[in-house]
Amino acid sequence: MALSIQITLNGKRVAVELDDVRVTLLDLLRERLELTGTKKGCDRGQCGACTVLVDGRRINACLALAASLDGASVETIEGVADGANLHPVQQAFIDHDGFQCGYCTPGQIMSAIGLLREARVHGDPERVREQMSGNLCRCGAYAGIVEAVLDAERATLGERKRGAA
Ligand code: FES
Ligand code: FES
Repeated sequence: MALSIQITLNGKRVAVELDDVRVTLLDLLRERLELTGTKKGCDRGQCGACTVLVDGRRINACLALAASLDGASVETIEGVADGANLHPVQQAFIDHDGFQCGYCTPGQIMSAIGLLREARVHGDPERVREQMSGNLCRCGAYAGIVEAVLDAERATLGERKRGAA
């Protein structure tokens, strides 16, 4: 039986008809909505390539049933830049060579954005490693990724301070 849901996707309201209630958010994004920035790695919650934000929290889109997300706000990698201006986390990944093949990168960036919203890492590389441990990178770009997250934390803290001034 078909099911209609509405989600706010990267700030825009979207109505979706689901003809199979078992469809995952990952398949909805990639196959139906053609947002292929979110990657499918393991499809079983082990690699983090499919990380997106739902109502501001990090989740594995391959484990989330789209049918359960009626009314939710979903953020994907396609929505994080502000026009031509990259998000500070995106810029930091470029500055620190935080990707090589780039396959894990969208999930890493979404995870880092979620992490920096959830809690500060206080410049501590160990906290970054622990908090990002659900995101695997088979190219070994971890050193750059950790540096990028720390740099993005510094950049976003600076923005907050400027905004508060
Ligand atoms: S594709 Fe979702 S965690 Fe691997
Ligand atoms: S940059 Fe290649 S898997 Fe992460």
